Amino acid sequence: MTRDTPGSADLECLALCKQFDAFTAVDHVSFAVPSGSFFSILGPSGCGKTTIMRMIAGFLEPSSGDIRIKSKSVLDVPPNKRPVNMVFQHLALFPMMNIADNIGYGLRRQGMAKPEIGRKVDEALERIGLPGIGKRKVDELSGGQKQRVAIARCLVLEPDVLLLDEPLGALDLKLREHMKVELKALQAAFGTTFVYITHDQSEALVMSDQIAVMNHGRFEQVGSGRELYYRPETAFVAGFVGDSNRWKGRVTRAESGLLQITTQAGLQVTGADHGRGLATGDQAELFVRPEAIRISRQAEDLSHLENRMSGQVTTLLFNGADSRAILEPQTGGDPIEVALPQSGEYADLKRGDVLHFAWAGDQANAFAVNDQAAPSLEAQ
Ligand SMILES: Nc1ncnc2c1ncn2[C@@H]1O[C@H](COP(=O)(O)OP(=O)(O)OP(=O)(O)O)[C@@H](O)[C@H]1O
Ligand SMILES: [Mg+2]
Repeated sequence: MTRDTPGSADLECLALCKQFDAFTAVDHVSFAVPSGSFFSILGPSGCGKTTIMRMIAGFLEPSSGDIRIKSKSVLDVPPNKRPVNMVFQHLALFPMMNIADNIGYGLRRQGMAKPEIGRKVDEALERIGLPGIGKRKVDELSGGQKQRVAIARCLVLEPDVLLLDEPLGALDLKLREHMKVELKALQAAFGTTFVYITHDQSEALVMSDQIAVMNHGRFEQVGSGRELYYRPETAFVAGFVGDSNRWKGRVTRAESGLLQITTQAGLQVTGADHGRGLATGDQAELFVRPEAIRISRQAEDLSHLENRMSGQVTTLLFNGADSRAILEPQTGGDPIEVALPQSGEYADLKRGDVLHFAWAGDQANAFAVNDQAAPSLEAQ
């Protein structure tokens, strides 16, 4: 199949808006998806993700703004004529057709000749890693295999853009984990532009070239997973992507981007504002990743760092390479989550042990609190 020069935009949304009566579901959303890339929209339930997809697919008319595919506005193009295809959460394969007929369904409707359909179907089965299963019935496949067939059924039509609305939502956790890797490989194999929506950050981080974090109808930030994780631009993004410990307080010192924040309880913590221009007197919230916190059994080991504290272990969360401990800080305040190094030196750590912990100010992200903060992870 022919593809454009990598990097040219397949899909552009320009100041896209959707009002439902007085409610604004999508609010001036603009983005461009480069040809052949994997673009995800990540956001909490109800933030407007599906509404964007329905407008791109042509099922819903935008209140204002434009949608362009290969630089041409598609606003006047009916859904069945748009060069996009949509995969839904609950994929409906036709149970009375075999797998090959399911995959070839759209091609038959396009009037393609039988031998060519056969060739395309075989090629698609090969690409999804299921060669030779064309004669099987739908109920002879596993959930993950059905998912791959449903996606292949869209991909053989060679849409410019494939829209996927939480396609892994109906699968169990283990299969979802597996399908993340599969989907990414499928996208690369077909070279099709994917726009993928999810409220699961780990799905978005694993698969995407670019992720847009969405909240209340707006895009808060668009960037690579790495950029969103290490350089969140808003408190919402910092709170929604990855885990963080948080402190709220007032800025009591601001020097070349490094801030000292004094909490209501009188605790002083430091962090960086990365150009956000916070000043003394501002209300601020500080986000510190569990793995940005250094730990030691001896206080002296951390003497080169700021933000030195200690706490008693209340909970140990073993998760292989990503194990954590929850500490009750001896200064009081909220529990702190720290990452345990993989070296094994904390393998015998137990509840009640005391650990010292500290972080370098430039490893923590500070935001003005008038930014709308994300709900905590437990509340999502
Ligand atoms: N046809 C409609 N009429 C009125 N309100 C609507 C309509 N469709 C969606 N909404 C509202 O717009 C908001 C965004 O809905 P949308 O389906 O886009 O959310 P979402 O981000 O896909 O959420 P989820 O993750 O739960 O699927 C919601 O508050 C929803 O109730
Ligand atoms: Mg939705």
